[in-house]
Amino acid sequence: MKADYDEIADNYDNFFSSAKYREEDYEVAKKVPANGKVLDIGCGTGLLIDLYKYKKVPEFAYDYNGVDPCFKMLKKLILKYGDKKCQCCKFEEMDMSEKYDTIVSLYNSPSYIKPRAITKIKNIANNGAEVFLMFAKDGYTPIAHSLGHNKIKIYGFSAYKKYLRKLSKNFSYEEFNNYVIVSGKL
Ligand SMILES: C[S@@+](CC[C@H](N)C(=O)[O-])C[C@H]1O[C@@H](n2cnc3c(N)ncnc32)[C@H](O)[C@@H]1O
Repeated sequence: MKADYDEIADNYDNFFSSAKYREEDYEVAKKVPANGKVLDIGCGTGLLIDLYKYKKVPEFAYDYNGVDPCFKMLKKLILKYGDKKCQCCKFEEMDMSEKYDTIVSLYNSPSYIKPRAITKIKNIANNGAEVFLMFAKDGYTPIAHSLGHNKIKIYGFSAYKKYLRKLSKNFSYEEFNNYVIVSGKL
């Protein structure tokens, strides 16, 4: 399957390892939930597992599951964290029979999902599940798009607003650098 992060997968971790991005990661690590069965949507090379390490979340406290359509990004995750589970497909096409306690999608990843499909999060959430989604602000083009010839369609945050309201009235919305973080319990 064609997946547009393929082209930059080999350099992805290196590029985002500079001090500027690390600082941003530490801020995100403070906010991101970690509990029970975790789904990482658009998991890429497994940054969420790194953030849990920064947070010193013990391995037994969570059961990690990633989903991403880009096989080369997942290959990097598996090289680093071979014991973690992941599916190679779009969120929209994943197995929706499992349920999760924590649903996370970091750094633009939710902005690649077709807006209407974001409501599917309800189908895979356990009661009281915690959600943490980092959408690209309207008009923001991720750096990854200029690193490669990435033409993957990205939606601005506004396209998701009405679907997020359907998903939960209790979400908080926080502007954070180039992102809008949507978080709260379902
Ligand atoms: C900017 S990267 C972020 C990766 C990782 N979350 C991080 O923060 O390092 C975006 C990821 O979303 C994935 N992606 C693109 N479309 C997707 C979709 N429809 N469902 C799930 N993931 C998708 C891409 O393959 C890519 O790995």
